[in-house]
Amino acid sequence: MERMKVTETFEGIALPGHLHTQESLGFAAAFTFRPTDVLIATYPKSGTTWMQEILTLLYSLGDARPAKTIPNWERAPWLEQIYCREALRDTESPRLLTTHLPAHVLAPALQRSKAKVIYVARNPKDVAVSFYHFHHLAKFLPDPSSFDAFLTQFLEGTVHYGSWFEHVKGWLGQRHLLDILYVTYEEMHQVSPAGSPSLSPSLSPSLSPSLLAPSADPAPAQDLRGTAQRLSSFLGCPLAPGTLAALEQHCSFSAMRDNAMANYSLIPAEIMDHSQGRFMRKGVVGDWRSHFSPEQNALFNRRYQEEMGDVELPSQWPM
Ligand code: A3P
Repeated sequence: MERMKVTETFEGIALPGHLHTQESLGFAAAFTFRPTDVLIATYPKSGTTWMQEILTLLYSLGDARPAKTIPNWERAPWLEQIYCREALRDTESPRLLTTHLPAHVLAPALQRSKAKVIYVARNPKDVAVSFYHFHHLAKFLPDPSSFDAFLTQFLEGTVHYGSWFEHVKGWLGQRHLLDILYVTYEEMHQVSPAGSPSLSPSLSPSLSPSLLAPSADPAPAQDLRGTAQRLSSFLGCPLAPGTLAALEQHCSFSAMRDNAMANYSLIPAEIMDHSQGRFMRKGVVGDWRSHFSPEQNALFNRRYQEEMGDVELPSQWPM
């Protein structure tokens, strides 16, 4: 199947051209946020779709009907994508919005508002693996060739959507300027049946939280319920009876994998070639271990330290 060739470049970052234009990107940068708006901000493959689903269930007070009948891109439209202006025309508050844009593009508009931001981050090694596989099915992204070549581009920040490091540092830099909550993909994972959180085994020893700067954040919750409780108090959206159970049921990997409103199976094959893989691929923590060679891991760790060594990270940070 042919790849779509058009790329839109904005602020030095390459973006898929069939989803973005200079006009749609300008619309995002100049957006008038309402005080009740909630923006999910992520680098690709960090748990965006999962967070969209969780917030849908939280705001519906556990009623699964919106999640099961409305595609996620309508429930939480992408601010920078072509269809957003139209999608938001009649949307009532509170509006859920999504973005992959870097902080410096949206920060001025956000700082003028009281909108809330939820930034979801994931161990960048797992992001790289997930993004690599996604390039095989997403016809709007370049052909990834080998994993090694892709990893080099990922570390150089020349992949579509730009540098993971710049994205994360940019949004972390907004911590005192915006009403922002940092959540990690890893902390959303359920506690395993054996009782041990799934976070720990994924950690690279050289990037473990014990090496990270202490933070004033409360101790992290490492499960979906804990995350939902943090979200509920951040958003001032009370947890109705039954919401937590509904969340666990409908936001599990298997439920979302089978939900056409969340798994992108509705996207036509010329945009996502579903024969090449699934959007809901594995949904695990630490898959990088089965992809990285020792040399790639050493290179990644070195680069991570260079970029992130001096950055003050929230206590629940996964790497
Ligand atoms: P994998 O490719 O590692 O499986 P995004 O929505 O930001 O594009 O992120 C997609 C990644 O999140 C994919 O990772 C996908 O499987 C994973 N994901 C989505 N929903 C999930 C869930 N409920 N539980 C665990 N992982 C989930």
